Amino acid sequence: MLDLTHPLNDGRTASSLLVRSLRGERTNPLPVWFMRQAGRSLPEYRKIREGTTMLESCLNPDLVVEITLQPVRRHKVDAAIFFSDIVIPLKLAGVEVEIEPGIGPVVANPVRSLEQLSRLSLIPSTALSPIVESVRRLTKALGSTPLIGFGGAPFTLASYLIEGGPSRDLPHSRELMRTQPEVWAEILNWCADVTAQFIRAQVEAGASALQVFDSWAGKLSREEYLEFAKPHSERLFEQLADLVDSRGQAVPRIHFGVGTGAILRDMFECGATAMGVDAATSLDEAAFALPGVPLQGNVDSTLLGDWQALTKNLDEVLESGRLAPGHVVNLGHGVPKDTDPELLTKLVARIHDLTK
Ligand code: CP3
Repeated sequence: MLDLTHPLNDGRTASSLLVRSLRGERTNPLPVWFMRQAGRSLPEYRKIREGTTMLESCLNPDLVVEITLQPVRRHKVDAAIFFSDIVIPLKLAGVEVEIEPGIGPVVANPVRSLEQLSRLSLIPSTALSPIVESVRRLTKALGSTPLIGFGGAPFTLASYLIEGGPSRDLPHSRELMRTQPEVWAEILNWCADVTAQFIRAQVEAGASALQVFDSWAGKLSREEYLEFAKPHSERLFEQLADLVDSRGQAVPRIHFGVGTGAILRDMFECGATAMGVDAATSLDEAAFALPGVPLQGNVDSTLLGDWQALTKNLDEVLESGRLAPGHVVNLGHGVPKDTDPELLTKLVARIHDLTK
């Protein structure tokens, strides 16, 4: 059980729009936040990041606190998402990894064998202290605005560890899962375990909800997802299932992936309590596939340059979202880096106004 001073227990966030919606209540107004709201679309982010690498900044509590708060101050979103990255657990476990600007995570020595895996251990608890300190300071500063903790699903995280960097087709991963399924399973289990440590640290220190990003799950067929990804995501969610508040209510657990219309139900069954939906699946289809499940999404981020098309899409999203027991408005994927931040501020105000 979470500490009695946790924001979900001491009256700060249990009645926030985000937490109520994720627990299946229809609120007025609806809550809104954006995946990748903390980041390169903001000039104040680009300025403060000057001279520091991405992963260094994720382990510097002064920077993490400031960058996480920037979009909350600017856009008046209803939640903060912890400024970090899905590869931070790799780094804290001692893997040599960097995020190259414009490329993404690059792992110096990709892991493709049991021998290589055997040299990795779990995250020593002292290594988590910058995460814990950042979250503690953030939740103090955020007051009644909930902080969302997150991590990558084992499949998406392992795709970087195995390929050594971003990859469209995942050739090494595909070969490994087909020819050495036991090695594949061990690597994904390790990814699940270090990510569970990372997410647990965020929630215990004060995050009021958590999101698991399986961004690349849509690269798998449904059969492949069930055989090669789902068991490991279940292992991750199982390790988070005991995160409950003082009334025994679960910390909301959102599961999200891109291109996952065909596997939404399977992803939910991994142990989520709410589902994130990308822009290629309509919320009414999602609500039909997942009766009774709170949904998050799914304004099309490719329309962010065209206000008229965007507001038309928003109307559809709000209408189809009514079929869900709770609706958290978000984009279908992250904020693109060239987005005009003023459009996001305007979009938040419009969502609040239309649903008040
Ligand atoms: O605002 C937020 O959403 C919180 C912060 C956040 C980041 N990464 C910061 C970041 C979150 C939730 C993530 C998750 C993440 N990281 C995912 C899953 C979500 C998704 O987008 O599908 C994935 C796949 C990663 C791995 C990763 N990290 C990629 C592919 C990239 C982009 C590389 C590039 O330059 O195009 C990163 C870097 C990254 N993570 C940035 C930020 C703000 C950009 C770094 C910079 O400022 O140069």
